[in-house]
Amino acid sequence: MRRGFFVLLLAPLLALFVTGVLRAQQGATATPEVPRHLAPPPAPVQPLPFSHRTHVKVGAQCQTCHSATTGAQMTFPETATCMKCHRTIAANRPTIVKLAEFAKGTQPIPWVRVFRVLPGVTWTHRPHLQAGVRCETCHGNVPEMDTMSMATSVTGMAACVTCHQERKASTSCTTCHVWPAT
Ligand code: HEC
Ligand code: HEC
Ligand code: HEC
Ligand code: HEC
Ligand code: HEC
Repeated sequence: MRRGFFVLLLAPLLALFVTGVLRAQQGATATPEVPRHLAPPPAPVQPLPFSHRTHVKVGAQCQTCHSATTGAQMTFPETATCMKCHRTIAANRPTIVKLAEFAKGTQPIPWVRVFRVLPGVTWTHRPHLQAGVRCETCHGNVPEMDTMSMATSVTGMAACVTCHQERKASTSCTTCHVWPAT
């Protein structure tokens, strides 16, 4: 009888305490998501209708095609990387015939760029990846995209600075701007 009473009293208190702890933990560890772009420019017409959804679904990792190890920018995949699969997969389709023609040439496929920070702003992927920021946090839900568009506002100063504040990264002007000139 008395034990039943205590259980009745303690159970809700315990539940409140546990949810409180969980909330606090989530608040401390959640990576801030970069806000969606409110008026994204239309997706550019690309030389080939490349779909991230199709390729992520068959198990290709972001790092298979994009690398931050050379230079300041992420790389785009070599056409030879595409041909490892497409020498056989869907080889007769017009889009893949066109891909094979690009592969015979010496020029890279002229992909139209989607995300661009203003020239002169200091930006590289490396410190962000080292700090554990995920691709999708800045670029949106890429594994669901059939056409790549500027889904988030990551190239704007507000998005950079908001995340830097939340993640305790530097927000001094000279972190991202070289002026005042020395
Ligand atoms: C099979 C190769 C391949 C894989 C795997 C791949 N990508 Fe791509 N990615 C491309 C190609 C090709 C382009 C250029 C065409 C386009 O924009 O759709 C591109 C473009 C992009 C762009 C736009 C770059 C710009 O500003 O122009 C982003 C962002 C991107 N990829 C992110 C990702 C992420 C995140 C993943 C993993 C979830 C991923 N990609 C996986 C091949 C790949
Ligand atoms: C890991 C293997 C793999 C790699 C690497 C790969 N693809 Fe694909 N790709 C596929 C598969 C699987 C499909 C779906 C084929 C189907 O619809 O049956 C596909 C579909 C396509 C299509 C659509 C074909 C059509 O008209 O239906 C295009 C275009 C394409 N890939 C371009 C590329 C380009 C460009 C690259 C390099 C940046 C690339 N692929 C790299 C496996 C790959
Ligand atoms: C902290 C935010 C952030 C993260 C995390 C991030 N990106 Fe980016 N990404 C950007 C910005 C900003 C640009 C535009 C840079 C520019 O103008 O050159 C960009 C550009 C790109 C480009 C175009 C080439 C270039 O470097 O300009 C590709 C491809 C790309 N990102 C892929 C990825 C992939 C794959 C990942 C995960 C491995 C990733 N990004 C993680 C913000 C991010
Ligand atoms: C989603 C979060 C996020 C976004 C968005 C983001 N950053 Fe960062 N940034 C970080 C973190 C975390 C670090 C690493 C801080 C550290 O290592 O102490 C960093 C580091 C940097 C550094 C290196 C700073 C240094 O002292 O070495 C530069 C430069 C930078 N960011 C510029 C930018 C610019 C420009 C943008 C927008 C185009 C941007 N960042 C967007 C989280 C973000
Ligand atoms: C974390 C990175 C970051 C920090 C810190 C930062 N900015 Fe920016 N700033 C940017 C980016 C990215 C752009 C380009 C925005 C765009 O393309 O719309 C920009 C653009 C600007 C512009 C307009 C474009 C230009 O170059 O004339 C001004 C002015 C500016 N910033 C001033 C400042 C001042 C002042 C500070 C310090 C109080 C500061 N910024 C700190 C990232 C940053």
